[in-house]
Amino acid sequence: MSGFLTLGKLPNFKVKRMKGDRVTFVLLGGTGDLARKKLLPSLFNLYKKGKLDEFDLIGTSREDLSDEEYIGEVSTALEEGREWEKFRENIRYLQLDFYNSEDYGKLRSHFLECGDHRLFYLATLPDHFDVITDNLNKRDLVNDSSKVLYEKPFGDDLQTARNLNQCVSELFPEEKIYRIDHYLDKELVGDLSILRFSNSIVEPLLTSNSVNHVQIIASEDFGVKDRGEFYDRYGAVKDFFQSHLLQLLSLVGMSRPKKLDARSIRDKKVEVLKEVKILDSMTGQYRGYRGEKGVKDDSKTETLVAVKAHLDNRRWNGVPFYLLSGKNLARKYSEIYVEFERPDAGYPAEVGNLVPNSLVVSIQPDQGIYFEINTKVPGKMSTEPAKMQFCHSCHHGPNTPSAYENLLAQAIAGDQRSFVRYDEIEEQWKVVSRLNPSEPVTYRRGKVPSELKKFITEGSWHGLEG
Ligand SMILES: NC(=O)c1ccc[n+]([C@@H]2O[C@H](COP(=O)([O-])OP(=O)(O)OC[C@H]3O[C@@H](n4cnc5c(N)ncnc54)[C@H](OP(=O)(O)O)[C@@H]3O)[C@@H](O)[C@H]2O)c1
Repeated sequence: MSGFLTLGKLPNFKVKRMKGDRVTFVLLGGTGDLARKKLLPSLFNLYKKGKLDEFDLIGTSREDLSDEEYIGEVSTALEEGREWEKFRENIRYLQLDFYNSEDYGKLRSHFLECGDHRLFYLATLPDHFDVITDNLNKRDLVNDSSKVLYEKPFGDDLQTARNLNQCVSELFPEEKIYRIDHYLDKELVGDLSILRFSNSIVEPLLTSNSVNHVQIIASEDFGVKDRGEFYDRYGAVKDFFQSHLLQLLSLVGMSRPKKLDARSIRDKKVEVLKEVKILDSMTGQYRGYRGEKGVKDDSKTETLVAVKAHLDNRRWNGVPFYLLSGKNLARKYSEIYVEFERPDAGYPAEVGNLVPNSLVVSIQPDQGIYFEINTKVPGKMSTEPAKMQFCHSCHHGPNTPSAYENLLAQAIAGDQRSFVRYDEIEEQWKVVSRLNPSEPVTYRRGKVPSELKKFITEGSWHGLEG
């Protein structure tokens, strides 16, 4: 199968391994939220599906835990199945402070019993990434078969991202570095380039000749939960806009690469990111945010960001792209909505209002793709909108692999196509540095602030009630 077809997912993959190649996962931040909610369940799923037979898992944190206590913690994060008893035999715990170089030495003795294929997953705040990288290198833990996985955000801003990248790339070659944006491993994001480049009816439509505007939305119906301290440092711009929204924008906006391989696609994405011209932006903060645990009393951190941008190229000449991410809105969903120019069919008034055609890629929780068209109501000379729909979960069932399952499997297989290259990250931070939003407006939970309604001058936010 070509690189193109598997971008963002590995259909029916079996993790590629050499004989006797036992994988060792070192989960640096093995007690954190991400580990509990995503990484441990994903590893267990891979194991249950028979895609990971031989492995060791070493979880680390500063807590003083025995192996048994850690295994107990892991079990609470998983839906135990009959495979649990075998899975648990491979789990170890190591108390390790990122800033104590001696602690890394203890990993060496653990490695004596493990295979050489090591995956170091930095499941912790980016503040610690450089010191961890440095210590892994000093202690000579990253061997030829190792990979180092960096969670997002990669840096706090353009300068810190550059510093971090300099540190990382001085110590490790690019083929060992895996920068994560888990959105790229969502099934429907993986489908985007297939939808565009393998369907000759779709690609010609996606230009300024036919498109009125594009919306890219990642809306959540909950607040910061127990991640207030983390969130208050980053906010919607750094947590979502800088990574997920700009990655989606680059996948929608890029022109067709000459070759449909990972390198050419990334090159095209970088081109688009360089062309992003910010026209307007606004931010919001939900009422009650300052009372959340871990949030400062006088916090000005935004929990919502909306951006209007153009892509400075001929293909998208003058087409507005609206990007929105927000917490505590009415619905939890992520989608790409492409609205085509309004039809001017010249029908008599009784036909009623024709809707503009649209193409929608639903990323979550619904997964699918549909076109909205105008159709005739039987027996009447009037119209109603109808969906021409591909429902992904109806077709493939609900148990397609999660984004983190996909990305862990790809990292094990040494497949970097769904990981982010540094120049993409650099351009993403440059876009962020061009944003100049005013102070956040306050909005009520579950409500769309009037400023956000007015922000979009072409129609309204698709699917966002409240
Ligand atoms: N949580 C999510 O849903 C989510 C989603 C997408 C991406 N991410 C990204 O994933 C990363 C981790 O997020 P998270 O929410 O899991 O954070 P978290 O809950 O705060 O977990 C951080 C982990 O790092 C450990 N740690 C912190 N300081 C340490 C130190 N000095 N030495 C050793 N261990 C230390 C913590 O254990 P101790 O404090 O006990 O030592 C804990 O295990 C972040 O980059 C975040 O952006 C998270």
